[in-house]
Amino acid sequence: MTPQDQLKQQAAKAALQYVQTGSIVGVGTGSTVNFFIDELATIKHKIEGAVSSSEASTKRLRAHGIEVFDLNGVGDIPVYIDGADETNANLQLIKGGGGALTREKIIAHMAKKFVCVADETKLVPRLGKFPLPIEVIPMARSMVARELVKRGGQPVYRDGFVTDNGNQILDIHNMDIMEPAKLEAELNNIPGIVTVGLFALRPADVLILAAAEGVRTLT
Ligand code: 5RP
Repeated sequence: MTPQDQLKQQAAKAALQYVQTGSIVGVGTGSTVNFFIDELATIKHKIEGAVSSSEASTKRLRAHGIEVFDLNGVGDIPVYIDGADETNANLQLIKGGGGALTREKIIAHMAKKFVCVADETKLVPRLGKFPLPIEVIPMARSMVARELVKRGGQPVYRDGFVTDNGNQILDIHNMDIMEPAKLEAELNNIPGIVTVGLFALRPADVLILAAAEGVRTLT
């Protein structure tokens, strides 16, 4: 395991303390979350099951014998655990490197508490070095790309990638993200954009950050 993977695993382990007995756990997507799913399996008898933000996470959860519920039948998600591509000190995030941003944002919105798990490389002074993923309706891809160019970004089509919702992804390079919540709200208004990978209007509530010196928690 790489040193970075070891940190991801430590953050994932630390997130277990937020899981509530008898509850349905919101589960995100990505390599850090994969470690979390493996940890969750060790206490699966204590939870009712999970809701999942991707087909990949659903598959891993089920392989561990954890029941995955349809979100439409679930009213209460006390805790959602997910990773991030970048986080700032206000726990505003860039997500969607794995392309699961839409379902992630839906579950984050529903959850009472959003716990983000990450290694220290994800914490940045300002969001935007990581290209901002945007899920788009296929027929709107070029139009949306032009809108992003007008705003100073450089869109790159994630060629050959189809989201779990049947849509496409534009990764926006060099986007100026001075005011994350404002930009998220503005981009949300462009027709054809399904989801912007900025999680600023609904940031994480807790950030578990693993570094070589140990695991710390930011709120
Ligand atoms: C997937 C995501 C992931 O949370 C993000 O890409 C971080 O992934 P990893 O834990 O593999 O670094 O948003 O859409």
